[in-house]
Amino acid sequence: MTTPKTLREDSPTDSHPISIWNYQDSTPADTDAINFTTGFPDFSPPKHVSSAFKSLVNNENNNSLIHQYTKQTGHPRLANIVAKLYGTELKRDLNPERNVLVTAGAVHGLFCCIFSLVRPGDEVIIFQPAFKGFSYIVNSCGGVPVYVKLNIVEDDKCKNDTPVTTSDANQKLNDRDLHTTRFEFDEEELKSKFSAKTKLIIVNTPHNPLAKVFTTDELSKISQLCTKHDVLCISDEVYERMVQEPLKHVSIASLPGMWERTLKICSAGKLLSVTGWKLGWCIGPDDLIRKAVTMHIASVHRIATPLQEAVAIALEGEYTGREDPNSYFNSLPREISTKVDQVCEIFLKLGLKPLKPEGSYYVVVNVSNFDFPVKDSSQTKDFQFANWLLNEMKIAVLPVTMFYDIEDRNEINESLVRICCFKRYETIDRARRIIEDWSDTK
Ligand SMILES: Cc1ncc(COP(=O)(O)O)c(C=O)c1O
Repeated sequence: MTTPKTLREDSPTDSHPISIWNYQDSTPADTDAINFTTGFPDFSPPKHVSSAFKSLVNNENNNSLIHQYTKQTGHPRLANIVAKLYGTELKRDLNPERNVLVTAGAVHGLFCCIFSLVRPGDEVIIFQPAFKGFSYIVNSCGGVPVYVKLNIVEDDKCKNDTPVTTSDANQKLNDRDLHTTRFEFDEEELKSKFSAKTKLIIVNTPHNPLAKVFTTDELSKISQLCTKHDVLCISDEVYERMVQEPLKHVSIASLPGMWERTLKICSAGKLLSVTGWKLGWCIGPDDLIRKAVTMHIASVHRIATPLQEAVAIALEGEYTGREDPNSYFNSLPREISTKVDQVCEIFLKLGLKPLKPEGSYYVVVNVSNFDFPVKDSSQTKDFQFANWLLNEMKIAVLPVTMFYDIEDRNEINESLVRICCFKRYETIDRARRIIEDWSDTK
């Protein structure tokens, strides 16, 4: 049997290495492990979100049109509240029809924006490590990813670091227990990556996988280069509500000269803890949104109406309660911070020092000094550790080298694992008991 000619030709997706999503989807499911890999909660959505959805399924509003096609660029009720909510935050009058595009999740937003702007050969600057969706999409439309490193920078305290002991780990978690490191880019390296071929830069804050929150100073440096070289910016802000106090989330679109050249990418799945709904939106200036709309129409045409209506109802509630400290949005950082602390305590008990997270619901742990039996010495240390933890304790975490497209070999980069902490308290407690039992037998 001969292979059909069309399959023998190169496809833009052939160059993609082993998919991070295959790894995440199969590892915990195959082993019934505690799943700290995937970026979603293992608990029910917030009540106001599920009630909104239930009311639509039961047709409580007696509006059967909610179950039919809605506007291509976004269901009006959702586009209106998105414009209101983000207009307040960006201090800008947003037009729901011209500055908002509702998409099938943030990844689809990235797809529409990148595909509508990048031509074959155009260069796209990406900070590495990075969410894999960025390079998948850039490569698929013939763009050329150009990488800038996010380097780990340790403060003096960390340079004199000593390994934690189990008795240290039993003390209450505080900053002293964590590596007070930051991940930073080198300004000179960033400058050197801008060229006449640069079309776009992709910024992701809060950052997956590093849990870094870009500072205003860092974003200003990026903005100055964008305006100087006339480069557009895609700003993936899906974790915008998940920032550890006292840090603040800053949208690069709010900086001088950036609104005109930025598309901000958002995810209802991440915002409202309903990742399976795959709903999101892009916010930007009229001309850039109009380009993205063409890709949106070519790809999915319209997004599910009932989901848009349910998210609109939930966001309206958040808008009304925006000054209430107990609103879902305002309480989310506290809840995440508690879970992050609990997960850090567990890994401290193993004798590891988590790196102090700034935002998102991830924590990164450096396993370079951790001693464990290695089965496959050809693997990087992060994979060796993740496989050992899975086999020994049935706890699944993600090796951070999966977030690299080109090698950036050094001891630390190859020794980081990412843990998603946004899990049920019982899940975290189960992991704690497993690790305590294991430590007791040592
Ligand atoms: C940085 C980043 N962008 C986008 C997404 C995907 O968002 P969505 O599920 O809304 O497509 C993720 C998911 O983990 C992410 O980490």
